[in-house]
Amino acid sequence: MIHNEVLDCIRSRRSVRNFHEQQIKEEELEALLEAAIWAPSGSNSQSWLFTAVQNQEALAKINELLKEGFQRWIPDDDYPGKLGAKVYAQKRDCHFFYHAPTLIIASNRPNYENAMADCALALENLFLTAHSLELGSCYINQLHWLRNDSELRKFLFELGIPREHTICSSAAVGYIAKQASVPPRKEGTIHIIK
Ligand SMILES: Cc1cc2nc3c(=O)[nH]c(=O)nc-3n(C[C@H](O)[C@H](O)[C@H](O)COP(=O)(O)O)c2cc1C
Repeated sequence: MIHNEVLDCIRSRRSVRNFHEQQIKEEELEALLEAAIWAPSGSNSQSWLFTAVQNQEALAKINELLKEGFQRWIPDDDYPGKLGAKVYAQKRDCHFFYHAPTLIIASNRPNYENAMADCALALENLFLTAHSLELGSCYINQLHWLRNDSELRKFLFELGIPREHTICSSAAVGYIAKQASVPPRKEGTIHIIK
């Protein structure tokens, strides 16, 4: 097995779901955002926008809007996570981004077919950078699912996310309070033809 800094970082990164309250440092946030914008993008579009929310009132409001939004929301397929989110939203202590002190929202221009791919690649850069800085991070999908919720979009617009943008994904980031366990890799997902 080959070892180098990049491969070891990829192998040891985990989705973290327990964070300390303490905010991450300014230079750490800058490094995460810089890593995101160095990702590849279709035709070098770079049409993404990464909005870092560190205001705790705004973060609480986003979580509240997600909770409310899921009550109204009708999932468009039977993906188990979507049904789970609707049930979870009814819990009083529900927090979709695990009280992380920083949430980075990735949005992109509308009707652009690589919107999700570009933002996903950018977020992986961000996750690996977070891990290299000993920060925890986790992909948070609920803003994508509720991307057409008018109340949520009204608030995201107040935060500066253009109304016409599609919300692709988001990343929770903070100092790690509890390490995540390692989900084993499934067998049979690699195929080599020589
Ligand atoms: C497209 C996508 C959506 C995800 N959505 C969520 C989410 O909403 N909440 C969450 O806690 N984790 C989410 N995850 C994280 C996965 O649960 C996690 O990557 C998986 O369990 C494997 O764990 P690992 O990242 O530690 O290897 C998401 C990951 C991906 C790629």
